[in-house]
Amino acid sequence: MNLLVVHGPNLNLLGEREPEIYGDLTLAKVNTRIRKFCADREIRVRIFQSNGEGAIIDYLHRNRKWADSLVINPGAYTHYSYAIRDAIAAISLPTVEAHLSDIHKREKFRRKSVIGPVCHAQVSGLGWKSYLRAIEILLSRLSPHSPTELPEAYSH
Ligand code: DQA
Repeated sequence: MNLLVVHGPNLNLLGEREPEIYGDLTLAKVNTRIRKFCADREIRVRIFQSNGEGAIIDYLHRNRKWADSLVINPGAYTHYSYAIRDAIAAISLPTVEAHLSDIHKREKFRRKSVIGPVCHAQVSGLGWKSYLRAIEILLSRLSPHSPTELPEAYSH
């Protein structure tokens, strides 16, 4: 599996940004855990963060031939970026949308995802483990009988 993991705006401030909502791990630490999770499963992963809509779209375009799956946390773009939605539809990779917080239990504007309809699944509210769950969903698409439980090391 050749996986892209894309983090959208403000996620570079993880750890200091509203930790009561998003947790106290920095993005660097989250990425280290994603890389370990992938390495253990022989998944090749490229990780990217940007605060810009265009930069995210350009990154998806640039990496579309290399990748065969995508996990994306579009941040606030989730709720209104038809351009990112169109980019995901255009590159046509199996995609899972991931959110640290539970977007269905917060402000009304967060409940709507314009990205959701072009994604295979949405994982929301598991903190940084949302990314791992999203990767597992993509893996289980490839091998339908693989276990979906997270290993012990990722349960805290
Ligand atoms: C988020 C939820 C979004 O509503 C918010 O704008 C973010 C982060 C999450 O991971 O919970 O930036 O995508």
